[in-house]
Amino acid sequence: MERTAWNQGTLDLIDRRSSTRRFADGVEVTDEQRDAVLRAASRAPTAGAMMMYSIIDIRAQKTLDRLAVLCDDQPMIARAPWALVFVVDYCKWIDLFERVGCFEAAFIERTGIAARRAPGLGEFAIAAQDAVIAAQSAVIAAEAVGLGTCYIGDIVENAEKVRDLLDLPPHTVPLSMLILGEPAKERPATPHPVENLVMPERYRRADAATLDAQVAEMDALFRAHASEPGERVLDIYTRKHTSDFMAEMGRSMERWLANWRGDRL
Ligand SMILES: Cc1cc2nc3c(=O)[nH]c(=O)nc-3n(C[C@H](O)[C@H](O)[C@H](O)COP(=O)(O)O)c2cc1C
Repeated sequence: MERTAWNQGTLDLIDRRSSTRRFADGVEVTDEQRDAVLRAASRAPTAGAMMMYSIIDIRAQKTLDRLAVLCDDQPMIARAPWALVFVVDYCKWIDLFERVGCFEAAFIERTGIAARRAPGLGEFAIAAQDAVIAAQSAVIAAEAVGLGTCYIGDIVENAEKVRDLLDLPPHTVPLSMLILGEPAKERPATPHPVENLVMPERYRRADAATLDAQVAEMDALFRAHASEPGERVLDIYTRKHTSDFMAEMGRSMERWLANWRGDRL
């Protein structure tokens, strides 16, 4: 395709996007905006066209307030007018299998397929991609209709409480969450480091020179006044890698994976 025929507007939109953590006071999301975002999510690629996800559409202030606490105390969640939780969902297929008789003795005898099995990590691998791709389609559509978004990774924390809050059944995991609303201010694009990102043809583990280039790029982008090289990497190590929230995420994800298989959460 000729460059002149490219949809440059789409590329510019993706380039300009950055996460929104402050929303304009009192500005509601319109029904047209909601429909455009949810429609785009539903048009995302999905493994086998199976739509192995559900979207919980959250507008109630009470629920947003509770999520703000459960997702590592992030008050901006309570100040967002809208949130979407993208649930990796195999429960709906188990229910469909049951509904059309896949677990009935007659079907088992006729097909020779053994009785019910729980979804495993194979299903999780593709269903999780379904959910996240739908979320990202929602992000781009939101930008296109003037809404800002921010992912909330901490939605996987506090499995037991989030399950109760959102009534999540077995064979589901709330993997991804977005908060959405009209941005309060112009958002400068966040720098995204690209050293050691794209690897021609095969994986290439970084050598010392590449690592030094990565460290230098990150310091230049995020720690312009760093006195020692590596401040950005040290910051990630102390604030993320060794954090309490990451420990809780790890604990809670073990619980969610048990729930995925159908074991008691
Ligand atoms: C999986 C995921 C989880 C995230 N979780 C949070 C979060 O809990 N809180 C937050 O403020 N930002 C969160 N973010 C936003 C990132 O911090 C943000 O995307 C990153 O800093 C890059 O900035 P940009 O989105 O403006 O380009 C998350 C982003 C992703 C992709």
